[in-house]
Amino acid sequence: MRHLLGIHELGVSGIEELLELTDNFAEVNARPIPKVPALRGKTVVLAFFEDSTRTRVSFETAAKRLSADTVSFSTSGTSVSKGESLRDTALTIEAMGMDALVVRHRSSGAPWQLARWLRSGASVVNAGDGWHQHPTQALLDCWTLRRHFGSLGGLHVAVVGDIKHSRVARSNVAAFSLLGADVTMVAPRTLLPPSVDGWAPGPGALKVSNDLDGVLGSVDVVYLLRMQLERQGEALVPSLREYTARFGLTGARADRLRDGAVVLHPGPMNRGVEIAAEVADGPRSLILDQVETGVAVRMAVLFRLLNPGGEPV
Ligand code: NCD
Repeated sequence: MRHLLGIHELGVSGIEELLELTDNFAEVNARPIPKVPALRGKTVVLAFFEDSTRTRVSFETAAKRLSADTVSFSTSGTSVSKGESLRDTALTIEAMGMDALVVRHRSSGAPWQLARWLRSGASVVNAGDGWHQHPTQALLDCWTLRRHFGSLGGLHVAVVGDIKHSRVARSNVAAFSLLGADVTMVAPRTLLPPSVDGWAPGPGALKVSNDLDGVLGSVDVVYLLRMQLERQGEALVPSLREYTARFGLTGARADRLRDGAVVLHPGPMNRGVEIAAEVADGPRSLILDQVETGVAVRMAVLFRLLNPGGEPV
């Protein structure tokens, strides 16, 4: 494995391997000094061409805990055009010497392009490309659920919200299905993709519904997605208030979940829109566990790519 691009390329064995490696780094992170020398002398470049808080900070923390040097640059707000300028930027950074390029880009497929362009053997890690993939988010969610439930096999997960514009949905539904969880995607028709072909490549089944209330009583996990207003070129829901009335996880809806059911959200949350504040902060919420796991998962990914065959410390 040289790059981490999407969940489909990883497959079940790749996912399992990274989840197991994450166990080691979660243990490192629980130490009084959560730092190991595993990637000393390596350089990790964080290239975020699109806004991010938690993913960027999480990758940077992960690289530093592995003793790698980090260089970060962001170009949000500029109009880095897809072809030439992205290639030039990447080759320029590469010429200065780097071992991994962690990239977030608004164009779907940008990390695949970069992987083809780089000449030095550096690894590309996809930190989110357009509406397409966000593999480390899926990995950290799988690890969080596996730690909570023991396994994803047989779980029923509702993925709720703006599925059409969500790379998190595309990565997570694939990973959940590969690990044996059944998924129901719940959204108004305007926020569903035109086709779900290829979304669930594993044994877990995929269904689609526009009735959150009908689904709630049978799920183990409610995975909420942010309303991605910046990606919606037109009004796809009549109003946010109406959206919340039908698809928001309000306190009353959360009360109707079965015992033991949990709530996840990749962040950033729109409190009061897709999730009520009392649910986000309530006993079913694993949202901060997700954030915590993010660092260990990204340590596992960087370690696996930059120190292949190395024993985790
Ligand atoms: C997501 C993203 O940027 O893809 N956030 C994240 O990485 N934690 C989801 C989102 O933007 O809604």
